[in-house]
Amino acid sequence: MRQSPAAAMSAAPEPVTPASQTLLEVVGLSRRFALGRGRKASQLHAVDDISLRLRRGESVGLVGESGCGKSTLARLLARLIDPSEGSIVFEGRDIATLSARSFAVSGERARIQLVFQDATDSLDPRQTAREAIAEPLVRLRLPGDVEQRVQQLAQEVGLPPELLGRLPHQLSGGQRARVGIARALAPSPSLLILDEPTAALDVSVQAVVLQLLARLRRDRGLTYLFVSHDLNVVRLLCDRVLVMYLGRLVEEGPSQQLFDAPAHPYTRALVSAIPGRAGERIELTGEVRSPIDPDPNACRFHGRCPVGTDACGRSMPLLQVVTPGHRVACLLAQGSV
Ligand SMILES: Nc1ncnc2c1ncn2[C@@H]1O[C@H](COP(=O)(O)OP(=O)(O)OP(=O)(O)O)[C@@H](O)[C@H]1O
Ligand SMILES: [Mg+2]
Repeated sequence: MRQSPAAAMSAAPEPVTPASQTLLEVVGLSRRFALGRGRKASQLHAVDDISLRLRRGESVGLVGESGCGKSTLARLLARLIDPSEGSIVFEGRDIATLSARSFAVSGERARIQLVFQDATDSLDPRQTAREAIAEPLVRLRLPGDVEQRVQQLAQEVGLPPELLGRLPHQLSGGQRARVGIARALAPSPSLLILDEPTAALDVSVQAVVLQLLARLRRDRGLTYLFVSHDLNVVRLLCDRVLVMYLGRLVEEGPSQQLFDAPAHPYTRALVSAIPGRAGERIELTGEVRSPIDPDPNACRFHGRCPVGTDACGRSMPLLQVVTPGHRVACLLAQGSV
């Protein structure tokens, strides 16, 4: 007997990840920004009730259109900003409850590093490459000879030692990116959160830096959360993909499955727009909902969804398992309407 999609979903068990393989587990994470005052006060829901798990050594892509909350999620995980709600258990400890001050001196501070989109913005224009790479070693009082570590890190990221005395503006975009990566690697992190690390680079330089990132992950056994607009890059570099839409996680799955058989109508549209992909491109029309005081009882994609029904405007879909490891938050994909 054929099962309905919903029955098949509830019958499919979530694969159990042994605790020792989980590097980071996030439950019910939200971040709201207060806007205006008094009667005009409102809340922008940048990240809304996100739960996810990263396994040790995997590379996970985070995709979604501009403003959907990718960088806010990245900053929350790196504890650069405080969550409004939720837990972030990293290497077995909830770091969401630590104050910014306690986090800054915690062991976890070194073990989670963020690489920003444009190294030009994240590097101090008055700091030489050497100083930039040495800074976390000195700040975190890590043992060992600083100059020797800087030299090793420069070599690891392919930065010629004669460039270590240069200021950011005296380096090319690719060299600045290498400095940013070396600086992030300096405290020997286990998790690298890469927020569009190559978006500011020329295409040919992008490819070289992506190869470097892939090699570093292999050599160091790193876990990556890789934020990108470029789905072709995500497909090449990531084992799994998370798709965000207006602050919420709408789909999550192994890369190949997600790109070959996207289950959420939003992911289908994203995938259809990948350059060079066969098949018709799905154009999204309709209005993008506002992240300010959004309706808690409507799918955020409702109104823009090519296949949505009235029911989607009355109920917020939650992530459910489609096949093991593949989850989607869509009433239609779940066969609920
Ligand atoms: N400090 C802040 N105060 C108020 N709103 C903010 C703040 N930071 C982010 N936002 C809002 O939160 C939402 C998510 O922003 P975020 O930068 O996380 O998106 P993003 O997915 O990284 O976008 P992009 O792809 O353009 O980098 C946006 O609506 C943004 O305007
Ligand atoms: Mg961003």
